[in-house]
Amino acid sequence: MGKCYPTVSEEYEAAVAKAKRKLRGLIADKKCAPLMLRLAWHSAGTFDVATRTGGPFGTMKNPAEQAHGANAGLDIAVRLLEPIKEQLPILSYADFYQLAGVVAVEVTGGPEVPFHPGRQDKPEPPPEGRLPDATQGSDHLRQVFCTQMGLSDKDIVALSGGHTLGRCHKERSGFEGAWTSNPLIFDNSYFKCVISGSLKTGSLCLCC
Ligand code: HEM
Repeated sequence: MGKCYPTVSEEYEAAVAKAKRKLRGLIADKKCAPLMLRLAWHSAGTFDVATRTGGPFGTMKNPAEQAHGANAGLDIAVRLLEPIKEQLPILSYADFYQLAGVVAVEVTGGPEVPFHPGRQDKPEPPPEGRLPDATQGSDHLRQVFCTQMGLSDKDIVALSGGHTLGRCHKERSGFEGAWTSNPLIFDNSYFKCVISGSLKTGSLCLCC
């Protein structure tokens, strides 16, 4: 049986298509694909399966959530996106931020990620402390991804491959540098580097 997704109006679908076009331009122009993917992930990664709270519901637009320690720098993403969002009032922030992540993967040459619109914005940010802490090990990652989010070990590995894009910024996370040699190309170089032991940001390998 297929999964059920909410149905949206034709007008909404048209707004999604327009948002996609505008996001392609912005992300290519500003070379901000990594930041947009991180925005989408940090929005989704607060989901708690037991209480069904948190998750990608547009709350990152709230300065209180941008101020969470793990989200340092994401205020820039929100600010970059706002002029496009203002032109598309019908879209939820929830859908818009996830779409930015989908387009970020597309623009950098990654696979086409299916996008299902219909998320509604929630009024309150999730509590701080739900996103993974890069200074802790695999037990912690399992606690966050498996126990809290309801995902699997395989999901942890696959999702960590998102670090094929982007870099660390000392002033945001305390770490510095990119994981791979071309942080604006979405390919499997993160995994190749993990296996060969040549990750550029060796201190943030996420696998040990
Ligand atoms: C497995 C647990 C994870 C940990 C501990 C972690 C940790 C981090 C840290 C410390 C940074 C550096 C932030 C900065 O200094 O700017 C970062 C960046 C990034 N993360 Fe993760 N992350 C995780 C999972 C993910 C996932 C699942 C994705 C997406 C699928 C992702 C996508 C990114 C991207 C694209 C950047 C680069 C942002 C930029 O260049 O501005 N991360 N991550």
